[in-house]
Amino acid sequence: MALQLLALRFLLALVSLLTAQGQDEVDPKVQGMSQETERCQRPHWDSRFQLAPDQVYYKKNEEVMLSCPEGFQPSFTHVKCSSEVLSIFQGKPVHSEVWLGRNTKGAWMRIRSSMECIEILQVDPGTFEISSNSIKLNWTCRFPDACQGMRAMCRPAVPSSPPCEAEEVMGEEMSQGQEGTFTCSQLQAFTDYSVTIFLPPSTTLFSWLFRTEEAVPDKPEELWLDPISGSLRWKALPSCKGDILGYQLNITARSAQDGGFLEMERLQVNGSITEHRLPEHGPGSRYVVSIRGVTAAGAGAASLWQFQSNSSVSQHPLDITCHTVHDISPSQGTAILSLRPITSDGVREHQLLVTMTHNGSVLESTCLGQPQPFRASQQPFNTSQQPFNTSQQPSTYLAAVLNLTTPMDFVLGDGTQGQGYHNAALRPGWNYTALLRLVHHSPQSEKFTCVCYSFSVVAGQAAGTWRGTVIGLVVLLALLLMIAGILWLVLSRKRKYFPNKVKEDN
Ligand SMILES: *[C@@H]1O[C@H](CO)[C@@H](O)[C@H](O)[C@H]1NC(C)=O
Ligand SMILES: *[C@@H]1O[C@H](CO)[C@@H](O)[C@H](O)[C@H]1NC(C)=O
Ligand SMILES: *[C@@H]1O[C@H](CO)[C@@H](O)[C@H](O)[C@H]1NC(C)=O
Ligand SMILES: *[C@@H]1O[C@H](CO)[C@@H](O)[C@H](O)[C@H]1NC(C)=O
Ligand SMILES: *[C@@H]1O[C@H](CO)[C@@H](O)[C@H](O)[C@H]1NC(C)=O
Ligand SMILES: *[C@@H]1O[C@H](CO)[C@@H](O)[C@H](O)[C@H]1NC(C)=O
Ligand SMILES: *[C@@H]1O[C@H](CO)[C@@H](O)[C@H](O)[C@H]1NC(C)=O
Ligand SMILES: *[C@@H]1O[C@H](CO)[C@@H](O)[C@H](O)[C@H]1NC(C)=O
Ligand SMILES: *[C@@H]1O[C@H](CO)[C@@H](O)[C@H](O)[C@H]1NC(C)=O
Repeated sequence: MALQLLALRFLLALVSLLTAQGQDEVDPKVQGMSQETERCQRPHWDSRFQLAPDQVYYKKNEEVMLSCPEGFQPSFTHVKCSSEVLSIFQGKPVHSEVWLGRNTKGAWMRIRSSMECIEILQVDPGTFEISSNSIKLNWTCRFPDACQGMRAMCRPAVPSSPPCEAEEVMGEEMSQGQEGTFTCSQLQAFTDYSVTIFLPPSTTLFSWLFRTEEAVPDKPEELWLDPISGSLRWKALPSCKGDILGYQLNITARSAQDGGFLEMERLQVNGSITEHRLPEHGPGSRYVVSIRGVTAAGAGAASLWQFQSNSSVSQHPLDITCHTVHDISPSQGTAILSLRPITSDGVREHQLLVTMTHNGSVLESTCLGQPQPFRASQQPFNTSQQPFNTSQQPSTYLAAVLNLTTPMDFVLGDGTQGQGYHNAALRPGWNYTALLRLVHHSPQSEKFTCVCYSFSVVAGQAAGTWRGTVIGLVVLLALLLMIAGILWLVLSRKRKYFPNKVKEDN
């Protein structure tokens, strides 16, 4: 019994020692100072607190329940009024009122500073990750059990309307302990979403408005040729995935009248424009048009269309038929091309490109090839590379640069060399395509107009084509005659011999 009493005394002494220590930092919230506090004033903490019971004074040891608005929690849900010795004045202890809070383990702790309603869920705006189709946010739960069963929802901020569709999406949760990430994926680009994290049934823990990033637009779906104006028209793309900044067009035109004529245009028009005048190359000309929309995120997928300027004209094969070249000299390695200037306002400088193939698709890329360092990434060949390398097949090279104003006969393969070009001798046994080209650049477009000539340099002939053929034929004829003569001689001798043999047998 005496031992128990001693232990109690010791504990009391310890408590008073501990409370005395707590006085180093005087609580500004200390209310009245009476000799023996029997009651406390309602605490002046966060004004959002709701107290139950709700009173002006609380009796000593009276338990009070604290609560906060939706989405918030107090550090202690149960508090009670108490008192402690503040100082000794004239030999008597001076008491002050204090509040104690009950921690999760049920122990009462002295509340030293002011208390606030604390957000249950902390979401740091610095961790938001927004793309064109997803929203990600990292969260931290301030109270270990308060976030159980939490969910997230991403709803379009305004109801979506055609043609831009957006649906509400449930967020997916990934959590480790008191931290985690919510992700809403498969969202529409360039759309406002209201993101809420809530505890079912209806406690909102977090709410924010986001806009997803822009994406590249869908491909244009409608394109037609206006038969009256001869213009190409298309249906404007909707701004669902971003504001349409412009349209990129690639137009390839082939003239029905001039088989070797090819014109390729690349241009970009403003997003507010929905038509483009096609270059005129007479009735029956064929056009291949590809078009893409452009947003801040870049160019979208391309639509490909084919037209004929006058649909009543019967279908021509899409393949280009180049002009034929008759005057070829395999021995000298030359061919004579009848060149005519390609008309275009102001431009006189024509280029003569040579490619050692008859392949039509190589032809198109050759016509588009850039001799100027204009767009380095799309260069099928580099004309400033010298000497040109014919062992890389099919080889393409710049043979000449001409100021063409009147028709002229040009000797291809005469060996002339200059700044960036080389009119190299033609090699027997190869197929050739020569392209006379005019390039026209403007800030918004580039146009390549080409006229093609195709021929083959026949191998193994010493003389010019027709003379060689004639000599060859004469030699062949003589040979045939000789063989026929020998055969006749042999056969006639055999006929004389056989009858004798028959006689001998008899
Ligand atoms: C969000 O949390 C994930 C997973 O913990 C982490 O990989 C990512 O870096 C965090 N993001 C930010 C912006 O802190
Ligand atoms: C291109 O469009 C923008 C806005 O879309 C406009 O401000 C600008 O004037 C347009 N330019 C032309 C040449 O139409
Ligand atoms: C297109 O074809 C029609 C006949 O169907 C013809 O009358 C018209 O002249 C042609 N247009 C052109 C530009 O050749
Ligand atoms: C036009 O052609 C170039 C390459 O020649 C290509 O990079 C671009 O995407 C094309 N544009 C369209 C609208 O097809
Ligand atoms: C033409 O060239 C293209 C690309 O260089 C190649 O894919 C195709 O097979 C060639 N066609 C022929 C008939 O050689
Ligand atoms: C062409 O090649 C030369 C040397 O190989 C190089 O200096 C030049 O930059 C190239 N030009 C282009 C347009 O790529
Ligand atoms: C031509 O190209 C071949 C193969 O790429 C290479 O081996 C050769 O050295 C080149 N010749 C010249 C003169 O550049
Ligand atoms: C073509 O004419 C321009 C002037 O109009 C001149 O500067 C250029 O050197 C000429 N080119 C050739 C290959 O004659
Ligand atoms: C040239 O073209 C003919 C057919 O037009 C083909 O048989 C031949 O193989 C080609 N020659 C070369 C060297 O490509």
